[in-house]
Amino acid sequence: MIGRHLIEPRDFSVEELEEIFQLAEKIIEAPEVYVDVCKGKLLATLFYEPSTRTRFSFEAAMLRLGGSIIGFDDPNASSAAKGETLSDTIRTICAYADAIVMRHPREGSAKLASESSNRPLINAGDGGHQHPTQTLTDLLTIRQEKGRLENLTIGVCGDLKFGRTIHSLIRAMDRYAGIRFIFISPDELQLPSYVKDEITHASFEETKNLEDAMGELDILYMSRVQRERFVSEEEYLRLKDIYILDTDKMEKAKPDAMILHPLPRVNEISIEVDQDPRAKYFEQAHYGMIVRMALLMKVLGVKEND
Ligand code: NCD
Repeated sequence: MIGRHLIEPRDFSVEELEEIFQLAEKIIEAPEVYVDVCKGKLLATLFYEPSTRTRFSFEAAMLRLGGSIIGFDDPNASSAAKGETLSDTIRTICAYADAIVMRHPREGSAKLASESSNRPLINAGDGGHQHPTQTLTDLLTIRQEKGRLENLTIGVCGDLKFGRTIHSLIRAMDRYAGIRFIFISPDELQLPSYVKDEITHASFEETKNLEDAMGELDILYMSRVQRERFVSEEEYLRLKDIYILDTDKMEKAKPDAMILHPLPRVNEISIEVDQDPRAKYFEQAHYGMIVRMALLMKVLGVKEND
């Protein structure tokens, strides 16, 4: 995986993902072994769009491996504000850093940037398109907490139209055996047909009713209505609270169901649900840092100390 870009989840094979998860597991077991494996390596984080988890988890991952970080989280403070092209920015950063993590509001920007990059370029979200490292996070969480990535009924609820974490999750999970998706959304926020067309192994159904689906789910993946991608604020306000997972709905869930959410949460999961042991979204955030440590080690080709 040395030197490879990660633009969408299928850039890595199922076997390669498994290697990343196995390394992540070793990091969980003995983090002290990895404290300086990236000493002397520099990661650049270029965030043209707001982020808390993704940027901090990448930066924390690199720092916990003994590496260093540079970057920006406000594009107005970069030369993009002077009119520099993305391609020129990337070529320049390649002269300084060993790997690049980039988030950008435009769909396809990560792929474009990777074409100018001779360092591994990791897509940290390109508009409403893909978010592969959130998917690594989601898969590691499922693997660790459920013990398997096969034979699961996965409910995906909320903004399936603009939710890039959802598009990436579906692309990734479709490669495992026995996956059944239940897509839960209003008509206006249904999964785009280009994503549906990419589902080749899994079965799926679509519904508007979260309550009715609850009892069937091994995993419920909740998501925020993506305000920043709406053209009309009025439409956003009409749809934003369409699904709220509360303790009443949790009563209908399987005893071993698992609730995931990429975060940030707005109103779609009421805070009482946080006390339910089936709510795993904060654990998920922790797995996000661990899996990014494993990914950085793989693409930088650092010694694994084993
Ligand atoms: C997600 C994103 O940025 O797409 N957040 C994240 O990376 N954890 C989900 C969201 O913003 O709703």
